[in-house]
Amino acid sequence: MILVVGGAGYIGSHLVKELVKEKEVVVLDNLSTGHRWAVDERAVFVEGDLGNSKDLDSIFSTYSIEAVMHFAANSLVGESVVDPMKYYQNNVAATLTLLETMKKYNVKNFIFSSTAATYGIPTVEMITEETQTNPINPYGRSKLMVEQVLVDYAKAYGFQYIVLRYFNAAGAHESADIGEKHTPETHLIPIVLQQLLGERESISVFGSDYDTPDGTCIRDYIHVTDLARAHILAMEALLSGKKSTATYNLGNGLGYSVKEVIETCEKVTGKSANVIMAERRAGDPARLVASSEKIYHELGWKAEFSLEDIIASAWKWHLRGV
Ligand code: UFG
Repeated sequence: MILVVGGAGYIGSHLVKELVKEKEVVVLDNLSTGHRWAVDERAVFVEGDLGNSKDLDSIFSTYSIEAVMHFAANSLVGESVVDPMKYYQNNVAATLTLLETMKKYNVKNFIFSSTAATYGIPTVEMITEETQTNPINPYGRSKLMVEQVLVDYAKAYGFQYIVLRYFNAAGAHESADIGEKHTPETHLIPIVLQQLLGERESISVFGSDYDTPDGTCIRDYIHVTDLARAHILAMEALLSGKKSTATYNLGNGLGYSVKEVIETCEKVTGKSANVIMAERRAGDPARLVASSEKIYHELGWKAEFSLEDIIASAWKWHLRGV
């Protein structure tokens, strides 16, 4: 049995849909940002909190857990600056409770959702796992803190882990049964698609004076189904008994500017966007593009979906109007 904490959330629910094909799965989620309907019905669902040892005890004493995947976190950079306590409490303190329970039940395989935000404002074109981490906001710091805890727990208690640093997750499941649904929505692709559907007046481009070819920020967009596949490979690596304390970037290795993303959305949907140039958003690095060579060499993973595929799948999901 695999425990997926945060399995009702955007990325977690896509992983669960793939994972149930090969494993028994129990999902723990407090539904603070996730959705009960997003959890595949083949998984056992427990509503509860990873910071609550009673909720955890009941799962670990009922099921024989082989590995834990941890997706449950707050993940908005801006919010983390305004309310850091929420981020250190939910992303760090609650995770410590989860790790403590794992230790108590002698479960030592852990897959952790981390982020490109651990790198801060990198000075290199392609970010590798060797690139210096230097988070510039509480969200990125909260994720890096857990990464550091894992290093020590591996040495002291024999934990094995794989840390996956996602770049910009986007897209929806091919069935369009699940997709991205945040309230409020802050991410670029769903915002553009909502505008194209007439649900928003306009799209604000946050900054057009960056040091990039068209002046807008460049990001590395990665399909959620590609992220899900990486988790399954990571789980197989941990369960094979091979010792691992690895950290991997997960991206396409391709950078697209905000303008290019909007143009691709227009092309895929055949609609034309109402775009407004706006001020820069605080804390946005000009360019974040991953090298995912390491996970390709070590686990054989590489992104399969292009930006057009990502947007086409998200569009199919948005057209459902869930
Ligand atoms: N953007 C706009 N207008 C919008 C929304 C976004 O111009 O209405 C721009 C942003 O300024 C940024 C790009 O589109 O340049 C992508 O923004 P998103 O909000 O979609 O994603 P981020 O790159 O800000 O965030 C992602 C993850 C975070 C992670 C961060 C690391 O969602 O969890 O990368 O920097 F922390």
